[in-house]
Amino acid sequence: MRRAKITIIGAGNVGATCAHWAAAKELGDIVLLDIVEGMPQGKGLDLRQASPVERFDSNIVGTNSYDDTAGSDIVIITSGIARKPGMSRDDLMSTNMKIVRSVAEQAAKASPNAVFILVSNPLDAMVQTAWKATGLPTKQIVGQAGILDTARYRAFISMELNCSVEDISAVLMGGHGDDMVPLPRYTTVAGIPVTELIPAERLEAIVQRTRDGGAEIVKLLKTGSAYYAPAAASVQMAEAIIKDKKRILPCAAYCDSEYGVGGYFVGVPCILGKDGVEKVIELQLNDDERKLFQASVDHVKELVAWVEKNWSAG
Ligand code: LAC
Repeated sequence: MRRAKITIIGAGNVGATCAHWAAAKELGDIVLLDIVEGMPQGKGLDLRQASPVERFDSNIVGTNSYDDTAGSDIVIITSGIARKPGMSRDDLMSTNMKIVRSVAEQAAKASPNAVFILVSNPLDAMVQTAWKATGLPTKQIVGQAGILDTARYRAFISMELNCSVEDISAVLMGGHGDDMVPLPRYTTVAGIPVTELIPAERLEAIVQRTRDGGAEIVKLLKTGSAYYAPAAASVQMAEAIIKDKKRILPCAAYCDSEYGVGGYFVGVPCILGKDGVEKVIELQLNDDERKLFQASVDHVKELVAWVEKNWSAG
C-alpha cells in the first residue's frame, strides 16, 4: 500500500511539532519545508533519527524546494509570524497574507490534489487567502482552529471537574478570534450536559478563558505562540483525511448557504474524510447563539475584505 505523503510548510515550532506527531502516528512520509536553509533538513534528520527509538516507520525529509513536495496528499501550512504579547491575531495580517499566498500558490502547483490544512493566523482570513491563491475546490481547503479551541475548552472543563478529558465532547463555532463561540448547550461530559455539572458563572469563566486561550500562552511564552495543541489539532485533521475516517470535527470550512454565511471560511462542525471537507453540519442555534455566531462571522468578513482590498498590492 502506498504511504500517504504529508507536506508541512514552515518548520518552526508548529510545523516541527506537526512533523513529530504525524511521524509518531505513522500517518505517512513527511516533507518539512522552510525558506531557511538547513533548518528543515536538520529537524527532519533529527526526527528520522528518533524513529528507531520510538519505533515509527516514516521517511522524513527537510527541504527548501517545492519540487520535493510534489504529489502530496496533505499540505499543512504553518508559515508566517506568530503573535508577541499584546498583539491580536489580526495584527499579523499584512505579513502573513503575503507569506501564505506565496506558499499556497507554490504548494498547489506541486500538489493539486492535496487537501490543504491552514494553521497560520489570522486563521479564517488565511484560509480564504489560500483558497484564492490556489483556486482549488473549497472542500480541499480547510482551517485548523476549532479542534484547538475545543481542546482548550475540554481541558479546562476536565480541570474543573477533575475528570478525564476523554469523556468531554464539545462544539465551538465561528472564527478563531476573541469572538469565537463555544456552545455549552452542545457540550457533554459522558453524555451529561455540562450545564448540569458546572454552575453557569463558572462555565462562563471557562468559556472566556477558552476565548483568551491563545493569548494566555503568548503572555507566558513571551516570544511566540502555542504549538503543542495547535500541532496536535492539525495532525488530527490530517489523520481523519488520510484514513478517510469521516470524523465530525470543528474546522474552518467554506460555508455559502450553510448558516447563511455567504461564501466565507468559518468554524463549523464538518465531516472530514478522503476528499477533505465532505459535509458541513448545520446545527440548530438558538437566538443568543445565532447572534454570537453572526458577530464572529461579521468579524471574519471584515478581515477577508482587507485581504480582497490588498490583494493586488501582493
Ligand atoms: C493560538 C494561536 C496559534 O490560538 O492561534 O494559540
